[in-house]
Amino acid sequence: MVSVQWFPGHMHATQKALRERLKSTDVIIELLDARLPGSSANPLLAQLIGDRPTLKILNKEDLADPVRTVQWLAHYNAQPRTRAIALHAHTPGPARTLMAECRRLAPHRGGMVKPLRVLIAGIPNVGKSTLINTLLGKRAAKAADEPGVTRQEQRIVLADDVYLYDTPGLLWPKIIVPESGDWLAASGAVGRNAFDEEAVALALLRALQADYPALLEARYRLGLAQAALAALPDHELLAAIGRKRGALLPGGRIDPHKAAEAVLADFRAGAIGRITLETPHTFAAWLHAAQAAEAQRQALRQGRRTARQDATPQAAPSKPSTRSSP
Ligand code: G4P
Repeated sequence: MVSVQWFPGHMHATQKALRERLKSTDVIIELLDARLPGSSANPLLAQLIGDRPTLKILNKEDLADPVRTVQWLAHYNAQPRTRAIALHAHTPGPARTLMAECRRLAPHRGGMVKPLRVLIAGIPNVGKSTLINTLLGKRAAKAADEPGVTRQEQRIVLADDVYLYDTPGLLWPKIIVPESGDWLAASGAVGRNAFDEEAVALALLRALQADYPALLEARYRLGLAQAALAALPDHELLAAIGRKRGALLPGGRIDPHKAAEAVLADFRAGAIGRITLETPHTFAAWLHAAQAAEAQRQALRQGRRTARQDATPQAAPSKPSTRSSP
């Protein structure tokens, strides 16, 4: 699991601005990464959205496993006041379908008097700028979402009566699902200095060994049967890939860091194949386990705090004390 540092100070201001904007929003578009829909969904955003109509867009569907995309779409479409579509943000025709979906979610809005107000949100690198530029028919102009770079809200006129509000990327303070930390890092959502590339590549390889061994073999031609490839210890698999990809140190030893970089670059570019790292079912199980572990950590912390307070001698009655009694 990676420990991801990605909640810069200005996020509190972003959160406040978003809360304000939501007061006059009819539909929220939540842009998700189709390769990791659960992990790329922002829990903080879910809290802010409440039960407002939401369009979930599974972007980068061209890189995702089509069978799993169908499962995720069915999962989201079964939720109240929610529609879900899958997109490749560079393709104009499908991108425009999102306007029809937004209108369906807020049929009471439209026309010059009551324009449809749509807010779009998504984690860094999920494809927000690409999608907006496709909708506007422009060449992509990268809008920075790097930590420390603040961006103002933008209003984009999609049609005479459809306004799209683009918010600065909202991150969340703590990623509690360990798998999500790994997948966010593997997908490129997290700046490269915020995680250990080797650890993330090993986590990715373990998932691919379990779910996509044939794709691994086809990409790296390791000469292994699927069962043998799936059973290989992760470090050995990384080393074998490093050897194939020429990730070598002076003297000919394998450079695990370079090998990890190669695996991550291949995954991000879709060179290993169409891959989705979680299903609604597996993600729900991880979330459940992570919430239980988090509750246990909190209980332990609380227990230690209470024990410390119990062990602290009471202040003499004549002296004022700022410490509350146990
Ligand atoms: P952001 O605004 O949400 O931060 O993301 P942005 O649009 O900049 O997209 C991040 C990267 O993801 C870009 O690649 C972009 O081309 C790619 N991308 C966006 N949507 C899709 C999609 O549906 N499918 C695929 N395959 N890629 C997508 P980049 O390498 O960072 O930039 P560039 O090479 O496109 O200039």
